Amino acid sequence: MADAYILGIESSCDETGAAVVRSGEQILSNVVFSQIPTHQPYGGVVPELASREHLKAIVPVVRKALSDAGRSYESIDALAVTQGPGLAGALLVGISYAKALAFALEKPLVAVNHLEGHIHAVLLEERQKGNHEVAFPVLALVVSGGHTHLYLATQRGKGWFYQNIGHTRDDAAGEAFDKVAKLLGLGYPGGPIIDRLSVHGDPNAIKFPASQIKNRDRRDRFRLEADENPRFDFSYSGIKTAMLRYVESHSMQTEIAERRKLMGTSQPTLQEVLAVCDRETLNLVASFQRAMVEDLVTKTLAAARAYGVATLFVTGGVAANNELRQRFEHDAAMEGLRVFFPSRPLSTDNAAMIAAAAYPKFRAREFAAPEFSAEAALALKGPG
Ligand code: KG4
Ligand code: ZN
Repeated sequence: MADAYILGIESSCDETGAAVVRSGEQILSNVVFSQIPTHQPYGGVVPELASREHLKAIVPVVRKALSDAGRSYESIDALAVTQGPGLAGALLVGISYAKALAFALEKPLVAVNHLEGHIHAVLLEERQKGNHEVAFPVLALVVSGGHTHLYLATQRGKGWFYQNIGHTRDDAAGEAFDKVAKLLGLGYPGGPIIDRLSVHGDPNAIKFPASQIKNRDRRDRFRLEADENPRFDFSYSGIKTAMLRYVESHSMQTEIAERRKLMGTSQPTLQEVLAVCDRETLNLVASFQRAMVEDLVTKTLAAARAYGVATLFVTGGVAANNELRQRFEHDAAMEGLRVFFPSRPLSTDNAAMIAAAAYPKFRAREFAAPEFSAEAALALKGPG
């Protein structure tokens, strides 16, 4: 079969991405323009600013992706763009641009679900390493700033089929990392800095009772035994409130203000951040991360057992977390399960994963209708 070169475009949140991927298995280029410095002062993504930044970045980012890949606009076989889920205004920038480019070049356009992109980031890298054998069914934990979702993924013919078997009932795991970091004056995004600080604290110092990361209620537990399709939902608003109470009752405000000031300056080093974190803060951060990791790993492995899966994928921004990776690797091995993560650059938002997810759709000639538009709450199912 002839190779297919797909130009992927991603603009669902705060990263403008463009990439060229060959036949879903080789990254020729992967350009990501991050808007983090724009949103940092606000402690989170500001949707209006995100759209404006995408508008500014999209043309140079796409141009660079093509030149890095050594390909011309005309030599691309198809375009792929994220349709959703994500911020509507941000998605629209990528979609409008991709539609215009596809129209002008007379190339087909494939619409991709962002979550399917995160799952295909793992497959793309495995194929790139020469591993074409993935045992099914696959259980994929997509864990990012916007999602904490569990999908059973199966391949049917040329297409993919996804069944959601769990999601967060409130905050996403990455959102909890971001909110807790903001609360502690650690800036935005929260995941990477909490990850780096956690190794300096005692993860067992502060116990977050299990009820603060709400577990399944009795009715659900009963359903688990009776139901053939048990669900494994997550909830992180409780731990966030517990952190808030802890901070309020332990007079930590002076230090938090000091840290906020430091994080407002340009890119402090880890040593500088550590200098304004006392032992209690480091213990708090490490204990928070431990509780999050514990919950994500325990529920995902329980789901893997209940559905008898052969392989585990852990993907999305939070999959970059070191403790999460180590725990998954250790605990999955104990159960004889193979676990795959994307490399760190492919864990967070990028367009290579969008181009890779588009490849089976391209082969199946599943192209986007000309009138398709952004879907902020697009669900992932299948086939396709
Ligand atoms: O996948 P992503 O780039 O964007 C979304 O689709 O949301 O994920 C971003 C999220 C943020 O919440 C960020 O704090 C989190 O991923 N994150 C991490 C780490 N790196 C990024 N969370 C924990 N540990 C990390 N090392
Ligand atoms: Zn994402």
